[in-house]
Formats: sequence, C-alpha cells, structure tokens
Amino acid sequence: MPAMNTDALKRQAGEYAANLVESGMIVGLGSGSTAIFATRRIAQRIGSGALTGIVAIPTSLATEAAAIKIGIPLTTLAEHPRIDITVDGADEVDPVFNLIKGGGGAHLREKIVAQATERLVIVADDSKLVDQLGSTWAIPIEVIPFGWEAQAAYLESLGAAPTLRLDGDRPFQTDGGNLILDADFGSIADPAALAHLLESRAGIVEHGLFIGMTRDVIVAGVDGVRHLRR
Ligand code: 5RP
Repeated sequence: MPAMNTDALKRQAGEYAANLVESGMIVGLGSGSTAIFATRRIAQRIGSGALTGIVAIPTSLATEAAAIKIGIPLTTLAEHPRIDITVDGADEVDPVFNLIKGGGGAHLREKIVAQATERLVIVADDSKLVDQLGSTWAIPIEVIPFGWEAQAAYLESLGAAPTLRLDGDRPFQTDGGNLILDADFGSIADPAALAHLLESRAGIVEHGLFIGMTRDVIVAGVDGVRHLRR
C-alpha cells in the first residue's frame, strides 16, 4: 500500500479515537505516527472549546514536545495517578488484542501509562492485525546498557534472533537512557508465557508485549474505520 494511503488510514483511526475523549478527563497521549493524529485532534477539540478541563500525560519525550507545541495542558502521574483514557498505537494486534509495541522505542513509558489507565484505546491501520504476534514484527526489548550482550545471549537461548537497534551508526537510546534489542521470535504461540520469561531476567527493563491491556482497538482500512471491542 502506498505510504500516503497508510497515513490517511492512521489519521482516520487516530481521529476516531480522539473523539472518545470527554471533557474533564485525564488523558494519556501515545507515541508514534498513528497516535500523533489522535493527539492533534485532541488539541483541535480543546482549541475549539469542544473539550474542556483536559490534562494529559505523554508517553514519550517526542509526544511531550508535540503536545506542548500544540497547546495540550500536561500533568504527571504524581498529580494524577489514574488516567481515564489513553490513545496509543501498536505494531501488531492479535485476535485477543494482545499487542506488540515499541516500534518507536517508547514502550516502557507507554506501559507505565497503560497500566495506570482505565481505558486503553489502540489505534492502527489494518496492516497491524495479525493471527499470531511475532509474525511481522520483532519484540522490542529495552535493556540497560551494562551487560546488554548477556541479555542478547539470553534471548538467543530462548530461540530469538536479537538485533541491537541503531540510530544511524550509534546504538539507539531510549528516553530512559537504555538500549533496545529487537528480538525476532517468529510467530509466538504463547505470548503471556514469553512475557513472564522476559520479566524474570535482570537487565531487561521492559519488553514490548502488552498482554490483556486493552479492550478497544480502532482499525482503519480501505472499507472505513472499525471499532473492535472485547
Ligand atoms: C512506540 C509504539 C508505537 O505506538 C508503535 O510503534 C506504532 O507506531 P506507528 O503508529 O508509528 O506505526 O509502540 O513505542
């Protein structure tokens, strides 16, 4: 599909989700090229007076910068430990709404925000829907720089092919100052079991598997926008 069409689909999904936000809500702002359409639409609704009393918590430094630029009032988890709604993207969505996230390397903050959120709404174009996680995307795994090679070896021992993510010719650095190993496991039969294995390893800060965290997926395709619910 040409890039322009994909962008149009991302916009449709993002804007649909932004319209689920109501006045007075604490809002989590996701990261990535789909979630930004939701963030921009929320800003428009605030600007037009359609939404009042909104404060938002961004899931990355990039989203924070964008939100400040377009005039969304920000807050913190310290001030608001419970978030009403978060709109975020995903790299893969399986039939029971388990996700792979972290294509932009923001999945640590994204998961912290998602865990604090009443209603996590995922926005995606329909190329993100898969039968099994891992079929099109490696799992982004954030590791601390110290001894990251040991985590790469651990991932290999689990059957993955890990690659250190680069930013030009340097290692990509997350907002937390960590590194990302993109671990290709192929199709994953039991993502919850794999998530537990990854969580038990020192040096792994967070992985991009989001298990059972959302009940709302907004998918845009050539036939329009579908709001999938579980
Ligand atoms: C960033 C993310 C993004 O939400 C995910 O990568 C989807 O991005 P995009 O909407 O640009 O395809 O998890 O860490």
